[in-house]
Amino acid sequence: MISQSSIFICPICRGNLDMPADDLYVCATCRQVYPVINGIWDALPKISANLKYLNWYEEEGVADDKTGAAKLNAQRFKVPNVLTVLPECLTARTCLDVGCGGGWFLEEFLKRLPAPPLAGSPPIKHSFGIDISLPRLREARRILAGTTLIRGDVESIPLADDSIDLVIALDVIEHIEHPEMLLKEIRRLAPHLVIKFPIEDTFFERFRAKLQWLKRVIRNRPPLFNPHLHCFTVKKAYQLLGRAGFEVKNKLLIDLPFGETFMYPPAYGITEQTPLAQKMDFHIKRFIIKSLSQLAYLFLAPFFSRLCNCGLYVYAMRSKRSSTTK
Ligand SMILES: C[S@@+](CC[C@H](N)C(=O)[O-])C[C@H]1O[C@@H](n2cnc3c(N)ncnc32)[C@H](O)[C@@H]1O
Ligand SMILES: [Zn+2]
Repeated sequence: MISQSSIFICPICRGNLDMPADDLYVCATCRQVYPVINGIWDALPKISANLKYLNWYEEEGVADDKTGAAKLNAQRFKVPNVLTVLPECLTARTCLDVGCGGGWFLEEFLKRLPAPPLAGSPPIKHSFGIDISLPRLREARRILAGTTLIRGDVESIPLADDSIDLVIALDVIEHIEHPEMLLKEIRRLAPHLVIKFPIEDTFFERFRAKLQWLKRVIRNRPPLFNPHLHCFTVKKAYQLLGRAGFEVKNKLLIDLPFGETFMYPPAYGITEQTPLAQKMDFHIKRFIIKSLSQLAYLFLAPFFSRLCNCGLYVYAMRSKRSSTTK
């Protein structure tokens, strides 16, 4: 599966890697060893400082966490939104999904792209996925036969400069301790980026968080761990991209305060086998919520993204001027 070893670099010192065996990389400079285990390249050095939240990503949403897993698997619904913002004539031969999780997005994305000879489609020849969570990558390994999977920290991606054409970063930047480092890494790697920011610096989110806190205080429960380390407004997202040396070329704002996942029935255990009454109940609720949010959007359009949570998809290109975060 790892056929492009020449583009791999050491995430610690950026040195080149030697490959003394089929399943082993060793940094030619700092001698750090990186094994390949069951088709996943483990480029997360044990000494990595950024392991604070690792346990959470290793446990949440995988294997026996059925509800979490269904919700994560549902994330493939993002594919049409990504295709909407991507320019039709983009030519990308290599693509990297940062924070690829269980590979659900990449699997669907690669399937939905028209075959390379069709004009206007990105003819991806090689795909890469990087994530910090080994259990999620093991799931990705099961569904992504041809993709190079890397376990690593996206604040230091073990790939050489300009080795990728298109980077996809969906719902990951808010999880990263230093978002500007992630963007700096992406800019180093690729000229094209599709990124999704959850817009959560909103009135709705503050209200929801306070309500959740109060409920837990009343029930005498400890506060919930929130893996979202950062909260964005549309403006903050654009500023961050601008500072990192990206130019926004296209955008799509998904105005669904309860999140896009709500639009995807399997995420809530609704399948063909679900009894009709239960299915109807879900669809009625979904219809009401969608209609209400669309109505609200009609009246509040200019302020909507400050009031209610949204999803912001952006297609951005590396700008000519260099990033100010360098
Ligand atoms: C909310 S999930 C999004 C997954 C996927 N991109 C999607 O849109 O469905 C965030 C992912 O980021 C990964 N992650 C969090 N911190 C990371 C880090 N520092 N380096 C690499 N991956 C990280 C998590 O393991 C998780 O799979
Ligand atoms: Zn090294």
